[in-house]
Amino acid sequence: MLILGIESSCDETAAAVLREGDFVLSNVIASQVAVHKKYGGVVPELASRHHIENIVPVVNASLQEAGVTQAQIDGIAVTQGPGLVGSLLVGVNYAKSLSFSWKRPLVAVNHLEGHIYSVPLELTRVERERGTQPAPWNDLFPALCLIVSGGHTSLYWVKSLSGGYDRDRFELVGRTRDDAAGEAFDKVAKLLHLGYPGGPIIDRLAKRGDSGAVCFPLSKISDGKLDFSFSGIKTAVLRYVQANLQQAVDEIRARRNEANFYDRLPQSVYDLIASFQKTAIDMLLDRTQRAAELRRPRSVLVSGGVACNSLLRGRFLEGFTKKGLPAYFPSPVLSTDNAAMIAAAGYPKLIAGTFADLNLNADVHLKLHD
Ligand code: KG4
Ligand code: ZN
Repeated sequence: MLILGIESSCDETAAAVLREGDFVLSNVIASQVAVHKKYGGVVPELASRHHIENIVPVVNASLQEAGVTQAQIDGIAVTQGPGLVGSLLVGVNYAKSLSFSWKRPLVAVNHLEGHIYSVPLELTRVERERGTQPAPWNDLFPALCLIVSGGHTSLYWVKSLSGGYDRDRFELVGRTRDDAAGEAFDKVAKLLHLGYPGGPIIDRLAKRGDSGAVCFPLSKISDGKLDFSFSGIKTAVLRYVQANLQQAVDEIRARRNEANFYDRLPQSVYDLIASFQKTAIDMLLDRTQRAAELRRPRSVLVSGGVACNSLLRGRFLEGFTKKGLPAYFPSPVLSTDNAAMIAAAGYPKLIAGTFADLNLNADVHLKLHD
């Protein structure tokens, strides 16, 4: 069985072809980073306009790269939500027109479910590359799944991935009360005039700083829930800059187009970045560890753009894997938004015959849990 996945929920236009739901034949992504860079964040109107331009070439490239023709595709999976409405509509509408003209079933996928599937998809890829027999995906479950990106920071309890589509499989254990983790990275980088997207830049520059230089307290959630909060850290960075580093930051702004810009920042800025990053990652680790103590999962799965963060990976490996509870991450290309994860999540629905009809609409607030 060949399934085509289409993803357009935010600023990446992506299409992928998978064989039997776990073998990635192609995974094509058209990034819009260059478009949104000058605004320091995704501009929804521009994102949808670029999806319209990219969707046809991206889908064609995914078929070509997979070495298959449209006649060989058995079904089409598309991200229905959550995401930006104008962006989602482009993917949903194109997937519906392909379903109609190719006479192939359409399945609707929740973007967050896609992020969860990206982890077992990665593990299978690695095992195949090593020449070993991939372990059954259900060996990982029940699992705690942390989805951390520019738009989401949610911790799910996932009972299993088998048995068709069943919303009871997902339980929301914790979520951000304000900003998403990636959003905090992007906003701190913007405040310091370091460029966009902020996450990878902060990750790289933090290695030059002392993460103990500035002490930012972890936001407290007093009602006992395992929720996250990032706006307090972001505001604390702003206050710290205003009180201690305003002149340095004004100079950074004036010099941001110079050669070797990133190599010549004041040490106090590297220290601030490292301290911010440590606090943000501590927040993610703290809540996930507390949830793991309460729930006793078989694994911890981390996905989304922020799952690329090197400190996060190191701290989760130390905090979980080395203590006997394995933590897994997708490779960077499967961590950030992609369509391979959408095709993987859509495959069980294709097999189970859980099809969407041609009235399918985008759902900006689509939930994974009841
Ligand atoms: O999953 P993604 O590609 O798109 C969505 O937001 O859905 O995630 C993008 C986010 C951005 O906020 C970006 O700054 C962050 O992921 N990010 C990182 C890293 N790489 C990407 N954050 C921290 N460290 C990184 N290495
Ligand atoms: Zn995402």
